[in-house]
Amino acid sequence: MKNIKFSFDAALIPQKSIRAAKDQLKAFVRGIASGVPESYPDVRAHLDVLDDKEMLEKVKRCVAEKRKLKPEYFVVVGIGGSNLGTTAVQEAVLGKLYNQLSPQIKILNTNNIDSSYIKSIIELIEPVIRRGDNVILNVISKSGSTTETVANFQVLLKLLRKYKKDYKGCVVITSDAGSKLWAVAQKGFDYLEIPKRVQGRYSVFSPVGTFPLGMLGVKVDDLLEGARAMRDACLEENLDENPAATSAVIQYLHHLSGKNISDLFLFSSDLESVGKWWRQLFAESIGKEFDNERVRVNVGMTPTVSIGTTDLHSIAQLYLGGPRDKLTTFVSAGKGGAEIEVPPLEIHPDLVDEIHGRTLGDIMDAILGGTKAAFRKDGRPFMEIHLSDKSEGSIGQLMQFKIMETIYLSHLLNVNPFNQPKVESYKEETRKILHKKK
Ligand code: PA5
Repeated sequence: MKNIKFSFDAALIPQKSIRAAKDQLKAFVRGIASGVPESYPDVRAHLDVLDDKEMLEKVKRCVAEKRKLKPEYFVVVGIGGSNLGTTAVQEAVLGKLYNQLSPQIKILNTNNIDSSYIKSIIELIEPVIRRGDNVILNVISKSGSTTETVANFQVLLKLLRKYKKDYKGCVVITSDAGSKLWAVAQKGFDYLEIPKRVQGRYSVFSPVGTFPLGMLGVKVDDLLEGARAMRDACLEENLDENPAATSAVIQYLHHLSGKNISDLFLFSSDLESVGKWWRQLFAESIGKEFDNERVRVNVGMTPTVSIGTTDLHSIAQLYLGGPRDKLTTFVSAGKGGAEIEVPPLEIHPDLVDEIHGRTLGDIMDAILGGTKAAFRKDGRPFMEIHLSDKSEGSIGQLMQFKIMETIYLSHLLNVNPFNQPKVESYKEETRKILHKKK
């Protein structure tokens, strides 16, 4: 496994300020590294999940059992932290067009309560179940009571029951022990537990992500190995050698100077969903009304996701010409052997100069180089992350880095990264409306 690389050279923050902010973080990092987190008892749980061998063995047993059913479709029924991580890893490692490339098991996500979308899913899976082939439903909800997830689950479960006597064998329930959904699981379904102290958006390395990814053939061991290697690098007490601490400090200092938008600019279509996973992680963890002393602060940075080179043709004008309110993190990845050369166009050889004979990867690298040069020229700050490939090991590293950066940034902002009271608030209001409408 190759280590991913970071560069903070173009962050445009004086070393003196970086050093001072790192001093604010030192004791916290040391506390976590030595297993005694300073303020949040939950931090360690989010890091230790990577070492839970028993949990992983249970997941692998469940994968082996459900793969025996040779399902044509695997349907993840979940939303937010219960599905974004899986999609992120699946698309990064197996490709965004995975389903279209005739895999053994296709994946579908019911991550919205949109009738026409769910209808299309039913149209895809019903003929499969009707003809006697298998579809696995994996309903994932930490709380076990998220309206969208439970509603979609009930719809799809009814469909399974219509055609299959032994429908329960085609369902796996992933939830917190003790939730209402957990109680359903005890009625003859297979189930996997989400560790109590691991929050939804931090749960990709628990059965929330490892079971669906294992079903698709993603090398879960490599994914976790990558995450563990990055966890260790980000627990380094010399913060100059600690990428998550350095990046969090830079985000924090830009936030203090009024840059309240953090853009993750990923130069790969297959990494778009990693961006969306991070957007939830970052937004829900640091966007808070109150700080840890219950003072109203309404703090946060708005995460945005851009895809290179696509979005250079949609939003780069704003990034380079508009307000100086953004910090960009460029992410690039090696092509992992998928090189395609541009052939000459005999009928008009100089349509675009200098491209024939070059690979698409070379051209993308040149465009990324050009984009960074334009950012530098204009005094726009950025950081860089480079992955040698999009293998499980590299993606595990990238996602664990973002988890630790978020936890460190939350500490600097003095907010709790593990709650989401305002998400709970909309859930509660929704239940009231649905109750009245009955
Ligand atoms: O990060 C979180 O905890 C939330 O955003 C949840 O992932 C999301 O609301 C879905 O909740 P649940 O997994 O309980 O259905």
